Amino acid sequence: MKILGIETSCDETAAAVVEDGVKILSNVVVSQIDIFKEYGGVIPEVAARSHLEVMMPVVHKALTDAGCSWDEIDAIAVTHAPGLLGSLLIGTLTARTLAILHDKPLYAVHHLKSHVYANWLLADVQNSVSRDRTSSRPSSRGSASCALGSSLRELPRNTLSEHRPAFPLLALVISGGHTQILYMPGHNQFEIIGTTHDDAVGECFDKVAKILGLPYPGGPAVAKAALSGDAKKYKLPHPKVNALDFSFSGLKTAVLRAVQKEVGVPISCPSHKLKELLTPKQVADFAASFQKTAVDILVEKLEMAKEQYPDIKSLVVAGGVSANKALRDSLPEAYFPDVKLSGDNGAMVAAAAYYEIQSGVKPTDPYALNIYPRISIN
Ligand code: KG4
Ligand code: ZN
Repeated sequence: MKILGIETSCDETAAAVVEDGVKILSNVVVSQIDIFKEYGGVIPEVAARSHLEVMMPVVHKALTDAGCSWDEIDAIAVTHAPGLLGSLLIGTLTARTLAILHDKPLYAVHHLKSHVYANWLLADVQNSVSRDRTSSRPSSRGSASCALGSSLRELPRNTLSEHRPAFPLLALVISGGHTQILYMPGHNQFEIIGTTHDDAVGECFDKVAKILGLPYPGGPAVAKAALSGDAKKYKLPHPKVNALDFSFSGLKTAVLRAVQKEVGVPISCPSHKLKELLTPKQVADFAASFQKTAVDILVEKLEMAKEQYPDIKSLVVAGGVSANKALRDSLPEAYFPDVKLSGDNGAMVAAAAYYEIQSGVKPTDPYALNIYPRISIN
């Protein structure tokens, strides 16, 4: 079964063709990062307009790269929640129109579910090319080898022939908008067992990057700066939140206060003035210390969750922050998507839809599909 997956929930316009939920036939991602670098964050109105400009060429390229005609596409899947309202609208209206035009069943997929299912994508990308919005040169993107490099030390590993996480499992979903631990007894079943009370961990990386004068998006920039930093240089607090929940707004403020103290300014000094006062060494040390604290918090909570759910057979990490190398190194027993598939893409949407279909989910009415910018996974 070949599914065309469409994703536009934030600042990536993406489409992909995936066979049977695992094999990527094409994966096209056009990122708006170069537009938003200038502003230090996403401007929703601009994001929606940019999606509109490239949406159809991206879909067309996904079909061409996959060598598929419309006749060979069995279904269309699209992200309908959560995300930026205008961005979600462009993807869903495109998918609705194409489903009607080509008479294909349409599936609406939750964004976090898609991130989780990036861990099921297996095959090497055959025609993986993405077009960078600001350069006309195509760049390679989206190799989909499975995260099998890690060895499950404490959990029983499912067989290599399956190549996929075994159920029941725990999924740590960490992105720019979400930080959750999900318990999945089986395909397409999600129970939220931990969530953030305030900022998402990706948002925290982005905000700390701003304080340190590092570019948007903050996650990769902090990770890069951290490479040459001393993670023990600055002591940052772990938030006191109940059970498996998270809180990251306090950590961001702790970094702000520590930076102000380090450069010798009062707490009334606005954060945008700090970058001029920091030396490259201080930036690297703050990046490393912050990253280590954030990673330790995530790992600690996952360890607690493992203790509370002793029946689980695998751990899965998903979402943009799952690209983080320090986190990957700290969780050798967990499944991670290929780094190129950890951010937003259409392949994971198609994979999630495939497993929805296998679980008996019926297609949605293309004339009535709605978007839900803030709805929860369950
Ligand atoms: O899943 P995603 O691409 O979009 C959302 O659904 O939000 O996640 C984006 C988030 C951003 O906050 C970005 O800074 C973060 O993922 N991120 C990282 C890394 N790469 C991306 N955070 C830490 N380390 C990274 N290497
Ligand atoms: Zn995402």
